[in-house]
Amino acid sequence: MNETSNFSGLDQARFRNIDLFAPELKSDPVPFFSEWLREGLCYANISGTPSAVATRYHDVATAFADHENLTNEKPRLAGWEKLDYFNGELNIAFSDPPVHTRLRKTLAPLLLPSAIQRLEPKVVEIANQLLVKAGGNTLEVMSQLALPVARNAVLGALLGLPEEDFAVFVALTEEMFSLGDLPAGAGHPASYKAAWAAALSYIDDIVEREHMAPSHSPVGLLVDAHQRGVLTRGEIVAQLVTLYAGGTSPIATLIGSTMLMLARHPDQLSLLRARPALLDAAIDEVLRYHSPGLFNFRFARRDFNFNGLPVLEGMPVYIVGHAANFDSAIYSNPYKFDILRERKPLLAFGRGIHFCIGFHTARMVTRAVIGVVLDSFRNFALNDETPTIYTGNPQERAPVSITLKVERRNRP
Ligand code: HEM
Repeated sequence: MNETSNFSGLDQARFRNIDLFAPELKSDPVPFFSEWLREGLCYANISGTPSAVATRYHDVATAFADHENLTNEKPRLAGWEKLDYFNGELNIAFSDPPVHTRLRKTLAPLLLPSAIQRLEPKVVEIANQLLVKAGGNTLEVMSQLALPVARNAVLGALLGLPEEDFAVFVALTEEMFSLGDLPAGAGHPASYKAAWAAALSYIDDIVEREHMAPSHSPVGLLVDAHQRGVLTRGEIVAQLVTLYAGGTSPIATLIGSTMLMLARHPDQLSLLRARPALLDAAIDEVLRYHSPGLFNFRFARRDFNFNGLPVLEGMPVYIVGHAANFDSAIYSNPYKFDILRERKPLLAFGRGIHFCIGFHTARMVTRAVIGVVLDSFRNFALNDETPTIYTGNPQERAPVSITLKVERRNRP
């Protein structure tokens, strides 16, 4: 890849003013999206670098699926250490074939619909326990329900880790996300190195145990791949942290956003109560209207023509999937939250070879938890005194705090 390209010679008339990091994008993206969708495929200076930006449905779908022209590997330019979450190890989300194919094949059996469906009763049990524990007539959805249920679903139900071991991966993930705050060139801090070493030693213990008595547990399957020479120990850690970090936050966000949207639209909540079979459609509408992800990005492998926009080798390409959910060429009356709307293929989970591997898990857990919420509460509504607060992570539209007033049912 041409790392020194200054991307000169681009048609200045195709540049637009696009701020992907505006904080208001989280609370009210409509004014931004409507302008960007009107303009369509364009260039913009993102973090000072000329980049291609896709916002319309067709362009977003093309970019997600185009692994011939676009790479998921992040170029190791100055400041790369801030993005080196996985200690230099290869990772499914940030790799291209053939590495991506090897990692995806190894993880896929853990996340098959048949394997996931069996986990539903456990998720229902955890959600019920959390709501009982929360008590009272207000609920802070994220900390009292969505985050603990998502953490238990991914680390406990899905990966089969005992709760007392969660801390190993929780600590490493926190270290990973604090790398962004380091000064350029600083390298990984001692606390990150200690957290990575603790996760490696945890895997070593499992390798030892599996050698004596194979458990056929999800983590056991990854260890088996290690013993067959398919995965290194470091790669096991990198994939486990990817599943934890990449799975927990969007599931929690989807649960929280679903409750937020239903609380903001009491007519839609009543409709769902009257017709529970609409639950899947309601979750799809939340994925469209209040999507957990705002944007993803890739880099051009070579010069190519992207649906009429010349893209140069090494250029970043931003895929604003959330904006595409409001494309009026696909969705009629797109700025209306409507659980009865005609369902279209969603872009919220991506397209092509990197399509979200946790798709079934996310849907199953959200369906199960919202089912428990509808059974447990006669009604819930926004608590006007406590505004919803969003995360600072620019790629996510993730509420960190949603407080609702809840009317509990009297349980026998
Ligand atoms: C509502 C929940 C979720 C949303 C909206 C979501 C969204 C996405 C999107 C848009 C991609 C494609 C990224 C790209 O092409 O660059 C993706 C990939 C991925 N997701 Fe999810 N995700 C969710 C839940 C999960 C869960 C529960 C897990 C794990 C248990 C997970 C693990 C992954 C992984 C490992 C990838 C990379 C797959 C690959 O590169 O082959 N996600 N997700």
